[in-house]
Amino acid sequence: MPSPKRFATSPPLRSRRSSDPDAVASGILEWSYHSRSAADTDRLGRLVGQCSQRGAIVALYGDLGTGKTVFVRGVASGLGASPRAVSSPTFVLIHEYQGQWPLAHVDLYRLRNAAELEHVGLSDYLDGRTVVAIEWAEKAGPELPQDRLEIHLSYGEGLSRDILLKATGQCSRGVLTCVKQRGARWRAAAMAPKTERAR
Ligand SMILES: Nc1ncnc2c1ncn2[C@@H]1O[C@H](COP(=O)(O)OP(=O)(O)O)[C@@H](O)[C@H]1O
Ligand SMILES: [Mg+2]
Repeated sequence: MPSPKRFATSPPLRSRRSSDPDAVASGILEWSYHSRSAADTDRLGRLVGQCSQRGAIVALYGDLGTGKTVFVRGVASGLGASPRAVSSPTFVLIHEYQGQWPLAHVDLYRLRNAAELEHVGLSDYLDGRTVVAIEWAEKAGPELPQDRLEIHLSYGEGLSRDILLKATGQCSRGVLTCVKQRGARWRAAAMAPKTERAR
């Protein structure tokens, strides 16, 4: 029988800010982003796609409708694959796209139990050259690679979403460092007076 731990829900967001001493001590890198719209979430996903190296793992967590698929569409677009093709798979749990690197979009929403995971074939895509984006990543249990960029999405006010990005290893830290640097430029541009932005 599968261990119930495999289906544990994602860790609470707000206790895991970068100022969290446990996170800092373990070398985990975190960055939080406040998305104001679907387009904003798409843009962040695109940045992750642009910053991703071969074999990057993007593990997405969050309730239904928080924007995981929107985010993956952005990743596809950032990798140069067609974002319009990305949808939540109904029967097939994995869809492949061709961009700068191959992208596998895995959606484990319909996975009923851990035993079914063996038939999904997730491990076939963990080949070090495919970027793998996994919705409902908590259901992947021990198959989820240790080094992954975790994306935790939660509902905010109105259309907004709180998005916490968390790197758990060397490869994902490289991706997140790139995202943080470029994202900081967005924030600076957004805060600059209009005349400066127009230049
Ligand atoms: N800030 C936002 N970020 C992402 N999606 C948003 C946002 N605001 C509204 N939405 C809408 O929420 C829905 C998210 O759907 P989807 O990405 O399929 O969610 P999930 O894959 O997490 O179940 C879309 O209809 C999208 O247009
Ligand atoms: Mg989805």
